[in-house]
Amino acid sequence: MAIELIVLDFGSQYTQLIARRLREVGVYTEIYPYFTPTKDLLAKNPKGIILSGGPASVYDKDAYRCAPELFETNLPMLGICYGMQLLVDSFGGQVRAAHRQEFGKAHLELLEKHPLLEGVDNLSVVWMSHADRVESLPPNFKALAKSANTPFCAIAHTTKPLFGLQFHPEVVHSVQGTQILKNFALKICGCKATWDMQTFASQEIAKIKEKVGTDRILCAVSGGVDSSVVASLCYKAVGAQTEAVFVDHGLLRLGEKEQVVKMFTDLKIPLHVVDASSLFLERLRGVSEPEEKRKIIGMAFIEVFEKKAKELEKRGKIKYLAQGTLYPDVIESVSVKGPSKVIKSHHNVGGLPEKMDFVLLEPLRELFKDEVRALGAQLGLPQDMLKRHPFPGPGLAIRILGAIGYDSLELVRLADQIFIQALHDAKLYHSVWQAFCVLLNVCSVGVMGDNRTYDNTLALRAVCASDGMSAHFAPLPFEFLESVANKIINEVKGINRVVYDITSKPPGTIEWE
Ligand code: XMP
Repeated sequence: MAIELIVLDFGSQYTQLIARRLREVGVYTEIYPYFTPTKDLLAKNPKGIILSGGPASVYDKDAYRCAPELFETNLPMLGICYGMQLLVDSFGGQVRAAHRQEFGKAHLELLEKHPLLEGVDNLSVVWMSHADRVESLPPNFKALAKSANTPFCAIAHTTKPLFGLQFHPEVVHSVQGTQILKNFALKICGCKATWDMQTFASQEIAKIKEKVGTDRILCAVSGGVDSSVVASLCYKAVGAQTEAVFVDHGLLRLGEKEQVVKMFTDLKIPLHVVDASSLFLERLRGVSEPEEKRKIIGMAFIEVFEKKAKELEKRGKIKYLAQGTLYPDVIESVSVKGPSKVIKSHHNVGGLPEKMDFVLLEPLRELFKDEVRALGAQLGLPQDMLKRHPFPGPGLAIRILGAIGYDSLELVRLADQIFIQALHDAKLYHSVWQAFCVLLNVCSVGVMGDNRTYDNTLALRAVCASDGMSAHFAPLPFEFLESVANKIINEVKGINRVVYDITSKPPGTIEWE
């Protein structure tokens, strides 16, 4: 499929969101690192370029800069946040540290009519996240919109197709942000809106088929949406050359293994189940540091897969390991194509050993959860599987703060079962993006009957999100929370206090570790 737009990545946590918003409006977009030579970018024949945000400051001497000749190509260009500041700095304007950093919502005051802002309401809410700001525009640039704190919210060159936005149109909090990106793509660059999930599915199946050839794939399956979609893609691409493997690492929820086995039986994809719980629990014994837990789990997974692959090699060498890595896992663990910051090592990305016997196959690496759900529907997977809440690879290990023991695993399992069942019973399960329990490793005093208790505290976590990159705590009804807390305290011996987590992401993350 021909590339319509290129996003140059300067390390923003939101770079992929830009590409994703453009996919939503049907525009096929690829991301390249900011240092990609101009001739390589031009060889892709894009109709326009977007410069992403990034954590650096343009006035630093080692600031990330693209090749200066890129600005001479006459291609339409849209700079977002750092991207706009880079544009301003490169054309002779001034960027400085802002007196006050600006994070959060602002209202866009439109200063003139312009195709970039067509269909955008005056005072529309946009989302700011910047510590630097443009002090003065370069010659021949003008402001299209301002906000209470930012005189240059949207800018344009008076004759060349160069544009800048100080806010982030790609995040959901910028209410009409997609409209602005759509205007840039369709009205200014003249892109075609021909990308859809069906095209993506057939492209990925063809890519897997071509890449794998006569080799074999070990497909790591967790029972979650992502790995099930990957298994289905692999199975559609190379059929029985796919070996789907589910590892019971001892950190699963109640009844999880049985559910996964049933799901794969229904899908008619053969599944190998490996019980490796003692290996994982032994390695994790006494380990309390979250990143260490994640790395241990990542390594143990690979070890188990390599062992299983050896066993299966009677049928032919297994060259590939397919896994359901998503974009949020990648961006928060390692920089994808640019220089973004590590937030936590997702087990399937940052937690992998440097040397592995496998070549990785990660067909969902650039997608977000809701896109994977749409892809799954396209592939014909059942709705109840597609609508399951995400369950992270490290499982309950990152929902028990501190060291993990059999007793604490048992407590979280029972409490989690009560919480999730209650959400189903109250028909609230599908109104939240993810819900789970966290054992806090904090004891507090209580009174039950006439006796003093000194037992564990459990946190209930439920969030609303669309892609997992940002999330808001779910406003579950108090009566519901009260009845769940009562049930847990009455039925799970060892828990005498239940709290509800009201932190959003950012500043928190969804999981506690
Ligand atoms: P955080 O906690 O980073 O989580 O806000 C965002 C989403 O990703 C899930 N998550 C993971 N999924 N492997 C996974 O497959 C992991 O290591 C991992 N860590 C977090 C998390 O449950 C949430 O849905």
